[in-house]
Amino acid sequence: MAARGSRTALLRLLGRRDVASGRSAPRRRCSGAPVRAPLAGRSYADLYALSVRDPDAFWGSVAEDKLTWSRAFERVKDCDVERGRIGWFLGGQLNVSVNCLDVHVARHPDRVALIWEKDEPGTEVRVTYRDLLETTCRLANALKRHGIRKGDRVAIYMPVSPMAVAAMLACARIGAVHMVVFAGFSSEALAGRVQDAQCKALITCDQGVRGGRVINLKATVDAAVKSCPSVQHVFVARRTGDRVPPGKLDVPLEEAMAKEPAECVPEAMGSEEPLFMLYTSGSTGKPKGIVHTQAGYLLYAALTHQYVFDYHAGDVFGCVADIGWVTGHSYVVYGPLCNGATTVLFESTPVYPDPGRYWETVQRLGINQFYGAPTAIRLLLKYDDSWVKKYDRSSLKTLGSVGEPINREAWEWFYHVVGESRCPLVDTWWQTETGGVCIAPRPSEEGAEIRAAMAMRPFFGIQPSLMGDKNYGLSLVITGNDVSGALCISQPWPGMARTIYRDHDRFVDAYFKPYPGHYFTGDGAYRTVEGYYQITGRMDDVINISGHRLGTAEIEDVLDEHPEVPEAAVIGISHDIKGEVPFAFVVLKENDSLDQKAVLEELRSLVATKIARYAVPDHFLVVKRLPKTRSGKIMRRILRKVAMGESENLGDVSTLDDPSAVTEVIQAFIWKG
Ligand code: PRX
Repeated sequence: MAARGSRTALLRLLGRRDVASGRSAPRRRCSGAPVRAPLAGRSYADLYALSVRDPDAFWGSVAEDKLTWSRAFERVKDCDVERGRIGWFLGGQLNVSVNCLDVHVARHPDRVALIWEKDEPGTEVRVTYRDLLETTCRLANALKRHGIRKGDRVAIYMPVSPMAVAAMLACARIGAVHMVVFAGFSSEALAGRVQDAQCKALITCDQGVRGGRVINLKATVDAAVKSCPSVQHVFVARRTGDRVPPGKLDVPLEEAMAKEPAECVPEAMGSEEPLFMLYTSGSTGKPKGIVHTQAGYLLYAALTHQYVFDYHAGDVFGCVADIGWVTGHSYVVYGPLCNGATTVLFESTPVYPDPGRYWETVQRLGINQFYGAPTAIRLLLKYDDSWVKKYDRSSLKTLGSVGEPINREAWEWFYHVVGESRCPLVDTWWQTETGGVCIAPRPSEEGAEIRAAMAMRPFFGIQPSLMGDKNYGLSLVITGNDVSGALCISQPWPGMARTIYRDHDRFVDAYFKPYPGHYFTGDGAYRTVEGYYQITGRMDDVINISGHRLGTAEIEDVLDEHPEVPEAAVIGISHDIKGEVPFAFVVLKENDSLDQKAVLEELRSLVATKIARYAVPDHFLVVKRLPKTRSGKIMRRILRKVAMGESENLGDVSTLDDPSAVTEVIQAFIWKG
């Protein structure tokens, strides 16, 4: 047992769940938990040291304090990293929706939970915690009425909106597992995910509205569910109210909810039961259903939300991500709501109706923390600074960047022009798999240095390691500073993914086999002389288009489906706004009458329909052959060099099967200009 004083110090430093009021929410104590923190110091550095030295003490205390449990946990963690077996807060029970709603309604029912910044500026909608709880309960009851039970998977295909948030929380309330699919994905991409997850229901809306354009979501859903026999009901919410063709499985959502009571008894969920799954791309195969569980995920999302962004109660938190991505899950929905925050739901685009949209929204809503993607910043800095300066940004306290490397120019513009050189700008590194931010500067630590375009410091409980190339027989963990290597995290943390849905072997192979005993991120990193971390990019065949993660193999699989394409290879090349774009090398069948232009057009539309519009390669190059190793592996490194116009510097080509294949590709590239 730790001294009471040091425990209190930790809790004070970490903040109770409602930071400003200084009172803690009514909660059941976790009396059975065996851990009490042997808490040493009070500084952030001391706490970090404790969090990695004695994770049980650290996370046990935080979990007791920050979450409301219906049954106390008995054991802080039980993990076997080599087998990818991760468990936190075992024996404990809670309900995520209770932690995000009921505990706040008990204390401040009229606090605004959501501000829905609709596509059309000036039409925002505010939803209080009381209203969100009621909507969530009605929706949860409607799901139950239609046979959805604990453990069932429910797909959500909706743009960001209060109803979408309520849908996620309603699933959490009854113990169903939600699977949000980004509403920009095609019907085939949606169907693939729904089939893999065997979803019993799908929640959507009639249409989406973005940048003044209407998007026929329901039509996409109708096409998708034709090949999804597991789906029994399609709940359709109203967004535009326009008439959309009815489907056999349709349930008008608002009507169904109106018949239901406004209370719904929350399901008591074991800490390790699944909360949601989210599909993301890997370097091979189809997108994988990453599974996150209840308590550990929620705790990690909430603690990072509070610390990484220096959030305080009463702040208006503006994360402009879509709920279709993990950023939307952790920093639009779960982290902010668990902390009792007011969170902004941004439905529009950075340039609608003009490039001042973000900053006009900041002024109108009084946003305190603004969290967005580098791709939008790179786009906006091309316009005149007056688009920023004409709006009052004095409410801003912290700026954040996520999803891809932020280049120095974008960082400087964001920091100096948007943040007036006074708001800390945090470059946050994390992944769908990590559940929340893992490496980021610390704006809440007094006097902590923040460097441009660098994620810098591990969060509590995160122990990064850089790994060397094991083939050289060297020690795997690279010690010291001013070194680069494969970025791993060497201790489990509560927010990490637990498995890939129905494919635990793939989970182990992808994340735990490459460096046994460590979680492998797929990214490379550099540790500076001072010990700060800088992400150097993916080490596999995953590319990042405007912050959207995509495996090049997914695009190749689609191109290969075309009858005229025996083979294709896709690589990512850099782009000054999107970060990266796909470049496709395609081999076409020998056929004199073939209309190449028409085939390429077909390939473009094939990728758009099978995956999404953003996945369509910006460049196509028709080649006779692809350069391969003697064992038949495509040498993408060489293709990358050619596509970047660096063919005079191809590096080691000794493993090439036939060097003339490279010459042909270079000629085709030069010829195409
Ligand atoms: O390569 C890294 C890049 O995005 C990948 C994770 O993508 P996703 O799972 O879609 O999650 C994105 C939102 C958390 C990482 O493996 N990435 C993410 N943040 C950064 C980054 N690359 C550089 N700097 C970052 N701050």
